[in-house]
Amino acid sequence: MLIGQSFWIMFPAYVSGSAAVLFKGRTPMDFGARWRGRRVLGDGKTWEGFVFGGLTGVFAGTMQQLFSTMTGQSHLVAFGYAYAGSFDPGLQPLMTQGSLAVIAALSYGGLVGDLLKSFIKRRMGLERGSPSPFLMDQLDFVVGAWLVALPIFWSWFTSVFTIYNFLIVLIMTPIIHRGVNIIGYKLGAKREPW
Ligand code: CTP
Ligand code: MG
Repeated sequence: MLIGQSFWIMFPAYVSGSAAVLFKGRTPMDFGARWRGRRVLGDGKTWEGFVFGGLTGVFAGTMQQLFSTMTGQSHLVAFGYAYAGSFDPGLQPLMTQGSLAVIAALSYGGLVGDLLKSFIKRRMGLERGSPSPFLMDQLDFVVGAWLVALPIFWSWFTSVFTIYNFLIVLIMTPIIHRGVNIIGYKLGAKREPW
C-alpha cells in the first residue's frame, strides 16, 4: 500500500525523466556556455528534452488524477494518515487547477533535479554521460521533485508523503532505475547503461 502510493505520487517525475531521454534534443540549455573553463550543464541537457519531457510527465499525472477521479481512489486512507492517490492540494478526487500545479511541480521539479545533477557533475570535472558518485544519476529526479514540490505544496506533500514514503522511494528508485536503464540501453534509446 505504502509502496504503491509512493510510486503513484512520484510517477510524473519518473515519466518526465524517462521522456527527456527519448526526446534527445539539439539545443543545449546552456547554449554552449562555459563557466571556469567547463560547460555549465553540457550537451546532455537540452531544451527539447526539458520542455517535452516535462509535458509528458504532466500528461501522465493528469491521466492518473483522472483515473483517481473515476475510481474515487483519492479517498483511500492508508494507516490512518496517508491519502493514496490525489494530486489535488485539497485532496479532492478531482482534476483541479491545483492538481495540475502539483503535477507540474513534480514533473518539472524532477527535471530541475536532473539539471542540478549535471551542474554539479560539470563542477566536479566529470564529462557528459560519465557515471556520478552518491547515486546522483539515480536519485536526481526524486530529489528534484521533492525540492520543488515540498516548499510550494507543503501541506499537500506532508499529508500524502510520510518518512516511510521517502525511505521507500530512496531505496527502491536506484534499483528500478538500474533495471529500466539496462532495458533502455539494450533498445538503443540510451547511450550508457546507467
Ligand atoms: N536529455 C535531454 N534533455 C534533458 C535531459 C536529458 O536531451 N533535459 C537526453 C540527452 O540526450 C542525454 C540523455 O537524455 O544525453 C540522457 O540523460 P542524462 O543521463 O541525464 O544525461 P547525460 O548525457 O548522462 O549527461 P550528464 O553527465 O550531464 O548527466
Ligand atoms: Mg547520465
